[in-house]
Amino acid sequence: MNRADASCNCFRRLAVYVVFALFVWLIAAASPPRAADVSGSDVYKSHCAACHDQPEATRAPSRDALQKLPATHILKTLDFGLMMGIAYPLKRDEREAVAKFLGTSEAEAPLPASAFCPTGQHPLSGAAAGNWNGWSPSSTNSRYQTSDQAGLTAAQVSHLKLKWAFGFPGDVTAFAAPTVLNGTLFVGSAGGAVQALDVKSGCVYWVFQANGPVRSAILALPNGSDTSLLIADQIGWVYSLDARTGHVLWKHRVEDHEAARLTGSPVAADGVVFIPASSWEESRATDPHYECCTFRGSVTALRVSDGSPVWKTYFVDPPKKTGSVNSAGTTLWGPSGAPVWSAPTVDSKRGVLYITTGDNYSSPPTANSDAIMALQIKTGKILWVQQTYSNDAYTSACRDKGPNCPAESGPDYDFGSSAILAHTPSGRDILLAGQKSGVVYGLDPDQNGKILWQTRVGKGGRNGGVQWGMASDGKVVYAAVSDMAGTLNFNAPVGGANFDPAQGGGLTALRVEDGSQVWFAKPEPCAPRRPGCSPAQSAALTMIPGVVFSGSVDGHLRAFSDGDGKVLWDFNTAREYSAADAVPAHGGSLDGAGPIVAGGMVFVNSGYPRTGGMPGNVILAFAPDE
Ligand code: HEC
Repeated sequence: MNRADASCNCFRRLAVYVVFALFVWLIAAASPPRAADVSGSDVYKSHCAACHDQPEATRAPSRDALQKLPATHILKTLDFGLMMGIAYPLKRDEREAVAKFLGTSEAEAPLPASAFCPTGQHPLSGAAAGNWNGWSPSSTNSRYQTSDQAGLTAAQVSHLKLKWAFGFPGDVTAFAAPTVLNGTLFVGSAGGAVQALDVKSGCVYWVFQANGPVRSAILALPNGSDTSLLIADQIGWVYSLDARTGHVLWKHRVEDHEAARLTGSPVAADGVVFIPASSWEESRATDPHYECCTFRGSVTALRVSDGSPVWKTYFVDPPKKTGSVNSAGTTLWGPSGAPVWSAPTVDSKRGVLYITTGDNYSSPPTANSDAIMALQIKTGKILWVQQTYSNDAYTSACRDKGPNCPAESGPDYDFGSSAILAHTPSGRDILLAGQKSGVVYGLDPDQNGKILWQTRVGKGGRNGGVQWGMASDGKVVYAAVSDMAGTLNFNAPVGGANFDPAQGGGLTALRVEDGSQVWFAKPEPCAPRRPGCSPAQSAALTMIPGVVFSGSVDGHLRAFSDGDGKVLWDFNTAREYSAADAVPAHGGSLDGAGPIVAGGMVFVNSGYPRTGGMPGNVILAFAPDE
């Protein structure tokens, strides 16, 4: 039907709607309220249990974790949060019933007045030295903080003490990558609240509510005499906010696939911001009736000034019906996948953006999955592809060989971490990439990504190998591994997985020039053994001169000497805190974004029940006590 036809019909249609609405109203008025008829437990069984009752397979928080959330928070997640796609077919009363069935009756309380900074104190009014902006302080993604900006020496690290904690109200996850600019810390949250906090006290300047959870690092960029913040959320929205006020300058949905999530952090060059897109469609495929799979990994380039499009590059061709159905009779689609989980790396010398991709979700597998790629910054054109693992098509259905597991059945060796562009002391540029397979690669950016060396640092697996990020000073690259191992214990308290306390983790130092090992720091077994506790080190690493910081799923944040891997400092974040915002706050597993170091302080988020780890809702700030 064309537009003209539609407008001819509209009055008649309106009349039909009015009559229909009246009819519905009459029926509704004549019968008891529907809510009483809907069983939250039934909705849970039919629409939620497949994932939330097997969190280890689906990477979903366990049912117990959901039961700790306020019902209002669950409803928010269904209405306009992470579960929007799942909740799409659910009616209002079904959403309310399942939220009530699962959640607590606590209100999502507004922050108390005492949480806010004193009037007269303004954001961005602190020292200009001591910043960490975006995923890495430099757009080479080295995650190496210089001594000027760090304001913290290796000798001071053993004196680090907790200065303040800030609790994310109603959340069970604290996974966002923080940014510090001129004395203000900007951080997102699982509940979608983005907050501007004072670095010294943790008091709140402003809070902005995004449409979806915010996990990627916030990028601060000059905008005339002001500063704007570029923020990407977990349901496809990108926002530009005024850093001083938190007011929206523009917003734009860059991915409309219902399973899209913007996990990789945005980076910028020459007034253009680059947004990588990944998805959780892999988990959607556990439903045998889900038509798997249609998501396409991409990078979108937008003008920083107004969000207008510059280019968009997809890493798989548009999916088509493959002509076959799965064993449940559901139509199959392909190709799909090649998501980008990590921040792109900017090479201004070569005018190139490096990105790393994940696996395919359905057959046929393609040449751009599990790869390192170079894109022309100006146009988004793919210049070269180095695929380090081929024929990797995988969904969460493969764990128990469900109907939506493609024939290739994994092994799920995504890149979850960014490539690092290292500049060696001998003046050579080498690209470093760590994969979930447990292998670290050194590539030549001048020879189309030719593999110069490869070194295995871990066993590798679905939950990594090298998971969220390495760090490098140009001479040595540091790679921690996850390699988490365990079985799921459905009766375990929140956190779920019954991890092997002696398997997983470990930190390896490799020479950038040739990949040879400098040292290996053995993981600490998880003690005392408890549910959700694993020695896996999947969180991104962070460096200052002399020190490598590494978080562990057991909740410990450790500082290692870069020379020999000796532990200089160890803090167990998995405990209760009295938070600056008076929100009940506790720490859990460290995973995802690593700590940041800026202006003499260390900041880290704690709480990650995604793969069976311990929940938590807190960001912690440390400074040396001397
Ligand atoms: C296809 C699998 C799947 C189904 C079905 C599903 N979920 Fe989820 N859910 C997930 C995953 C995976 C996550 C975690 C996503 C992430 O990694 O951020 C999640 C996260 C959530 C969260 C966010 C927890 C937080 O940290 O704030 C809530 C709440 C939630 N789900 C509720 C539900 C409810 C209620 C239902 C049923 C109506 C449901 N989910 C159905 C997979 C699923």
